[in-house]
Amino acid sequence: MADRATSPVIMDVDTGVDDAVALALATRLSELDLIGVTTVAGNVDVEKTTDNSLRVLAMLGRSDIPVYRGMNRPLARAYHDASEFHGVSGLGDAEFPASPVAVQFETAPEFIIRAVRARPGEITLIPVAPLTNIAVALALEPELPRLIKRVVIMGGAFQCRGNATPYAEYNIWADPEAAAIVANSDLPITFIGLDVTHKAPLPKALWATLAAREGVEARMVYALARRTFIGREREEFHLHDPLAVAVTAFPDLVTTESWGVTVESGIGDQIGRTCLVKQPDVPQHQVAVAVKTDAFLARFGEALSFQ
Ligand code: BDR
Ligand code: CA
Repeated sequence: MADRATSPVIMDVDTGVDDAVALALATRLSELDLIGVTTVAGNVDVEKTTDNSLRVLAMLGRSDIPVYRGMNRPLARAYHDASEFHGVSGLGDAEFPASPVAVQFETAPEFIIRAVRARPGEITLIPVAPLTNIAVALALEPELPRLIKRVVIMGGAFQCRGNATPYAEYNIWADPEAAAIVANSDLPITFIGLDVTHKAPLPKALWATLAAREGVEARMVYALARRTFIGREREEFHLHDPLAVAVTAFPDLVTTESWGVTVESGIGDQIGRTCLVKQPDVPQHQVAVAVKTDAFLARFGEALSFQ
């Protein structure tokens, strides 16, 4: 169980292979106290992202962390999953046993609001999924920006190519209206986009060494990344969501710049594109522009007992 002196965090996830690794990292970093997990439709549907999150926490021996189901579709658009990357179940080739515990009764936005009202200014939110739950929480509690300590979002492709389309990163593209509401709010946001996550993948050679390891963390990461390396024949497994978790614990892993962030919505091929602007009427956020890859992989490996 985490030390009370650590930083309380809530993760908003669409578990998802890299979300699962991010959950593992968050439970193993002594700097963080994961007080709750909220789920949303994204990589796979919300029933699967919820069930996957419960299974992952059970594997990690952390079924004490409550899971809250969130929105089952984007605010204004049809839902598109990312099962091409994450597999039909969302967990790649991994098969984790069912959890002994059930999802909570409260919804994800309700839990986020209750938690930050109870501990104003203390909790960091780590959304690593489409931002639907966060936009709904803002609608239900307009004081959210003053109640929350920081929001570390995995999302955006600012000065690089997208992954859902040439212009857009998946978490933003999947619910651009929600992303626009969140980016245009006074939430104190740090964006961890593809600009940095694509520079800090798990190398195949390191992954291959995990097969011989006995720890549950190594076995989980090996199983979660197997489909990417073997089935999809990739040389790298992207640690998008784990980097957002690591930056929450160790902010100096990235260099950030202060920018306003706008999100393209409407109709057309640029939906979900994130643009950096300097305009007095657009709230300023921190946007990661560089990452210390070796330091990140060292923190990652140490926390998950790979070294
Ligand atoms: C993001 O999209 C999802 O597929 C991943 O889990 C990650 O959160 C990367 O674009
Ligand atoms: Ca994710």
